[in-house]
Amino acid sequence: MTFDRSIKIAPSILSADFANFGLECEAIEAQGCDWVHVDVMDGHFVPNITFGPATCAAIRPHIKGVMDVHLMIAPVDAYIEAFAQAGADVISAHLEAGPHIHRTLQAIRGAGSKAGLAINPGTGIEDVEYLLDMVDLVCVMTVNPGFGGQKFIHSQVEKVRRLRAMIGDRPIHIEIDGGVTVDTAPLVAAAGADVLVAGSAVFKGGAVANPAPYGDNIRAIRAAAVAAL
Ligand code: DX5
Ligand code: ZN
Repeated sequence: MTFDRSIKIAPSILSADFANFGLECEAIEAQGCDWVHVDVMDGHFVPNITFGPATCAAIRPHIKGVMDVHLMIAPVDAYIEAFAQAGADVISAHLEAGPHIHRTLQAIRGAGSKAGLAINPGTGIEDVEYLLDMVDLVCVMTVNPGFGGQKFIHSQVEKVRRLRAMIGDRPIHIEIDGGVTVDTAPLVAAAGADVLVAGSAVFKGGAVANPAPYGDNIRAIRAAAVAAL
């Protein structure tokens, strides 16, 4: 993985057909996405359950590019090695998931993946400051984690702007997760985000048997974001 700040579209397979993950990953990559965003939920840290490292390992051969794994689980540390072994390029853990996020981030890098730090809408960026030298990505949640298709929380745009200033020249991605559409993508791109996760806005109208709408949706979100830079 090389670092750059160009706009990257990362479809969340939370909105894909769960019976067809391999083909869905191939379809969104063929339709022009940059990263594939994989939402892991435990029914404890968030009120929804998705899947674990075995599913990540199963879909890995169907992804040519970056597999971006977002862990919405608590505790985290005992599972890091399994997700790294499953082939996650990026593993993001939540700052709110336990008392020792510093140790968790060390463990992610130690396992050979890029370290992502996810923060909920109610969490301030002052808690991120002393972690900046150990992260490759900060994921700003623009919905409360747990479900796709929620409404974008506009107060987070100012948080992204402040986080971008705090990051300065460091090679750290700012990822936005939740409620990203053609209407909200320009707001976060202008504020300094470069990785835009989008679930419902990418998968709407398409299917494995009819993937062209995925491409239309990806291009529309990218164009809206790039036009705001
Ligand atoms: C929410 C997940 C998101 C979600 C985004 O907990 O982390 O990745 O799937 O879905 P949309 O784009 O539909 O808000
Ligand atoms: Zn996510």
